[in-house]
Amino acid sequence: MKSPIVAPSILAADFANLEREVKMINDSQADWIHIDIMDGVFVPNISMGIPVVESIKRHARKVMDVHLMIVQPERYVEAFHKAGAEVISVHVEACPHLHRNLQQIKALGCKAGVAVNPHTSVNQLEDIIHDIDLICLMSVNPGFGGQKFIEHTFDKVKRLKELINRNKTKTLIEIDGGVNLQNAKPLMEAGADVLVAGNFVFSSATPADVIRQLKAL
Ligand code: DX5
Ligand code: ZN
Repeated sequence: MKSPIVAPSILAADFANLEREVKMINDSQADWIHIDIMDGVFVPNISMGIPVVESIKRHARKVMDVHLMIVQPERYVEAFHKAGAEVISVHVEACPHLHRNLQQIKALGCKAGVAVNPHTSVNQLEDIIHDIDLICLMSVNPGFGGQKFIEHTFDKVKRLKELINRNKTKTLIEIDGGVNLQNAKPLMEAGADVLVAGNFVFSSATPADVIRQLKAL
């Protein structure tokens, strides 16, 4: 089995010590830094904005994976790109013109991702799969870290992997929410490529060690 792309979620970090937290990620085996942007409209919570992403970028030596949980993401995609985002995901539920959103992200030179809420069927992506670099399957309801993993996600990963194979695209499958050492391996076996982990990493006294364990599944 290939090893996962591991993306610690900065939402679970100590925001008063962001430089220290980013350096921990830099020095670890993590591949990406996952950054959750919440607007208090699409999701019932507010997290951080563009100045914080810029501050992270000043220290980050890993790929910045920005997950936009916001309405009308087209208004901010360019600003997040300028702030340092290299992967940008928008929510299918927030984008009536998803094809246009993805072209906008790609035109900036970023990888274009689509995030999918737990209730949204992956079958909805059949006609857009060729345009998607990454699909972020939400394995919790977006808005908060530290929630319980929704088991139905396993079924969705398998069906999404079939869709990707059938269409012969290189789309990556990212799992976001409640990832831990129990579900990580079966998720990879089902077809996942990227594992986001927030609380599981940052609540540990030895976060770099948890990252190493996720890489070594
Ligand atoms: C949830 C966020 C997740 C979150 C994951 O809205 O999109 O990225 O930070 O955190 P854990 O791993 O704690 O569920
Ligand atoms: Zn996220």
